[in-house]
Amino acid sequence: MLATPTINPDKPQSPSIEARGTYWITTFGCQMNKADSERMAGILEKMGYNEANGELEADLVIYNTCTIRDNAEQKVYSYLGRQALRKRSLPHLKLVIAGCVAQQEGEALLRRVPELDLVMGPQHANRLETLLSKVDSGQQVVATDDQHIMEDVTTARRDSKICGWVNVIYGCNERCTYCVVPSVRGKEQSRTKQAIKNEIEGLASLGYKEITLLGQNIDAYGRDLQEVTPEGKRKNSLSDLLHYIHEIKGIERIRFATSHPRYFTDELIQSCYRLPKVCEHFHIPFQSGDNDILKAMARGYTIEKYIKIIESIRTLMPNASISADVIVAFPGESEKQFYKTLSIIKEVEFDQLNTAAYSPRPNTPAANWDNQLSEEVKIERLREINSLVESVAKKRNLRYLGNIEEILVEGINQKDSNQLMGRTRTNRLTFFPQNTHGEWNYKPGDIVNVKIDQIRSFSLSGTPIQ
Ligand code: SAH
Ligand code: SF4
Ligand code: F3S
Repeated sequence: MLATPTINPDKPQSPSIEARGTYWITTFGCQMNKADSERMAGILEKMGYNEANGELEADLVIYNTCTIRDNAEQKVYSYLGRQALRKRSLPHLKLVIAGCVAQQEGEALLRRVPELDLVMGPQHANRLETLLSKVDSGQQVVATDDQHIMEDVTTARRDSKICGWVNVIYGCNERCTYCVVPSVRGKEQSRTKQAIKNEIEGLASLGYKEITLLGQNIDAYGRDLQEVTPEGKRKNSLSDLLHYIHEIKGIERIRFATSHPRYFTDELIQSCYRLPKVCEHFHIPFQSGDNDILKAMARGYTIEKYIKIIESIRTLMPNASISADVIVAFPGESEKQFYKTLSIIKEVEFDQLNTAAYSPRPNTPAANWDNQLSEEVKIERLREINSLVESVAKKRNLRYLGNIEEILVEGINQKDSNQLMGRTRTNRLTFFPQNTHGEWNYKPGDIVNVKIDQIRSFSLSGTPIQ
């Protein structure tokens, strides 16, 4: 079907670009926020802003914020305080708060920091130009109403020239009892397969080699696009999408995140196995090793189902890397339940785990329960789990020793300029040196066979082989 051309009332029509000054964006939180920041930077550059050398030099500052845990939220207020002070002697400074804290707090932020010019929720990222034009006309603007997200991705200014993030579904319809995401990111909205493909083809034509499809619950992709085959099979699933984009020339690697165990299908595992560009790397948060805690979290699966998924992946792809998120000290979690989480980590041998102590969040059910655990318990459990994660990851990395791995070069190792850095298909960070004459044989974007000769908990080193 051909799209009907429409005039977008949100899009200012003036084509002229004038120099506007400099901008700075600081991004907190997850990959969705990073992807939103890249689109906002693209919009600003199209408007005539240049990137500033530092946050205290910019004429326009955006904090793209995260509220997943209380400490993430508090960080923003200290940054904002510094800028508010700056604004008192620099009245032309524009101060913007975007992302999830903006959505959660809305108008209240203007009362807390009256120097703010614009408060904008994540669904408004693509509308930055329109919102700033309101600010230019002298208004203090709050944009947190529910939006159908505008399809406007062509202008992203991406940090990497090799690996690109591509949003495929926005929002989340789950109701995990600890989680603030559904209330700040809104309902699920899938992008069409065609729009996603167009964006990836654009990236391929610019020389990008790897893409990561993004969604808070990526397994929900396509649920809202409502195409069902005559046999009753849902079209537009994540699996269909992987097939649909697989042949795009130039793209060598495809990843996706985040998977939800409740919806993770065998069909998806089969597709990952069959499609050569889809990397053997799965990020599937399990959150807790105890079924009663999972129930209290309203996650909708048991730990037995989770283990089954991991077994199915490893039957077909034994060397696949598995990473996850886990929460310790959820309300009511007993020692025994905590130890179940530790024993799952030993059993699965995760390649990487993001760990966090439970943090009560506004407008979430678990925050109001009276079985909250103390700070001491949180700190102690976090310490214990982190030391286990490190030793398990190191043990799991042993399988790379002596292997020849395909490394997609991303750039120079920031800590050692004599080394290049890249990643294995399984997403393990890997470093290797220039040749013995001190020259580079490879450049970003190359895929190099590297023999792994050193392992650490979270990275590898090796020697390129011809
Ligand atoms: N959509 C993903 C992850 C969303 S948020 C999923 O369903 O798993 C990223 C991670 O932050 C979560 O996986 C969880 O481990 C952690 N998290 C979310 N809310 C939290 C809270 N209130 N306290 C501590 N950690 C939390
Ligand atoms: Fe939060 Fe659960 Fe949605 Fe993940 S699936 S974003 S944890 S509500
Ligand atoms: Fe944080 Fe919002 Fe992402 S709360 S984790 S930035 S969706």
